[in-house]
Amino acid sequence: MSFDLSVIPHKNIVLAVTGGIAAYKSAILVRRLKDYGFDVRVVMTHGAQAFITPLTFQALSGNPVHTELLDPAAEAGMGHIELARWADLLLVAPASCDTLAKFAHGLADDLLSTVFLATKSPVWVAPAMNQQMWAAKATQRNLQTLVEDGVHVIMPDAGEQACGDVGLGRMPEPEEIARQVAGYFHQAQRAIAEKFGLLAGKRVVITAGPTREAIDPVRYISNHSTGKMGFALAAACYAAGAQVTLIAGPVSLDTPNGVKRVNVASARQMLDISMDSLETGCDIFIATAAVADYRVAEVAEHKIKKAGDELNVSLVKNPDIVATIAGQEKRPFMVGFAAETQNVEEYAAGKLVAKKLDMIACNDVSRADIGFASDENAMTVFFAENYHMKKRELEKASKQEISQQLVEAISDALRRK
Ligand code: C5P
Repeated sequence: MSFDLSVIPHKNIVLAVTGGIAAYKSAILVRRLKDYGFDVRVVMTHGAQAFITPLTFQALSGNPVHTELLDPAAEAGMGHIELARWADLLLVAPASCDTLAKFAHGLADDLLSTVFLATKSPVWVAPAMNQQMWAAKATQRNLQTLVEDGVHVIMPDAGEQACGDVGLGRMPEPEEIARQVAGYFHQAQRAIAEKFGLLAGKRVVITAGPTREAIDPVRYISNHSTGKMGFALAAACYAAGAQVTLIAGPVSLDTPNGVKRVNVASARQMLDISMDSLETGCDIFIATAAVADYRVAEVAEHKIKKAGDELNVSLVKNPDIVATIAGQEKRPFMVGFAAETQNVEEYAAGKLVAKKLDMIACNDVSRADIGFASDENAMTVFFAENYHMKKRELEKASKQEISQQLVEAISDALRRK
């Protein structure tokens, strides 16, 4: 089976290593699991420590290794209940005969057996043992019980064993085990996406339209943004299962079905409402608004009267909304937009870095067929991923279709993060 790595969600794996010569392979297994983006914590039985040291796993996993049930230090950090809750999957590799027997009979006399009993997450075991021990009636009976209890068994390979025997009992290669685990989450993710949408359960905040900066009670500075892109994205995010808040500047568009809309006029109002949204909860912040870069320094209290041939209005810089949100300690996944008339990609990539965004979608507004008032758009999306810049082209399409492509790009990037 092959699958797109970008749709494997970030998950926590508790890898339990038990006593057996195959324990050396588990060191590589940690690496391979991390290659798929999983966070890995290792639990070792006493038996395992006769084969390989906790230090090896600590270095490879980047997390402390858990060995004792009644270790006061471990309890303060992460005891068996916390480990059991933290795990999205408990993977026991290699799983010794003794461990299988304990699991099958519900014994709880060490850390691993208690984590097993305390977790609600799926449990996978990769038995590895001498072929005679594998074939023993008691082992097979225990395995049968575990399968009936819902434990997933990664079947051992056949071949030459460390003890010199030939037969079933070798732990599969780490690459293969990691691939199966990733495949499991990939399938599960696909099923959720198909049933509930790519952004199921995510809280999305979108800024859209222009801002309007008052000069006096009857005049203002604004721009040609119609808000179409932001509104189309709001509809696409809602259709993808997200809870959507749309912070809209003055535009004449209907609120998309299911979307919560907050109307604002100025950039500062847009910033205030955006900051409020962080308090109430925001996983993804998408800034499509064409925010006025400057506002009038002092808004006249009364209508400015015609006088003389020139009128000078002093402007001051507006806050950068998306950069301000990206600078917050608990920041959501940040998506910006860049409308440029020249050096489109270069400027957009620069903004991705300067505004500390996770993703920026850019388009060339000098083209008459796409952009501001058009119903169509074509975009290049840049992602910041592990300090590397990645690029994805979105073909020219209606703003609705582009929005769906963007939702997919956001959902992929979010999972990779
Ligand atoms: O700097 P520029 O306006 O080209 O950056 C575009 C991106 O930054 C868009 O995502 C836009 O919504 C956002 N932005 C903002 N606040 C500003 C200016 C731009 O959120 N004051």
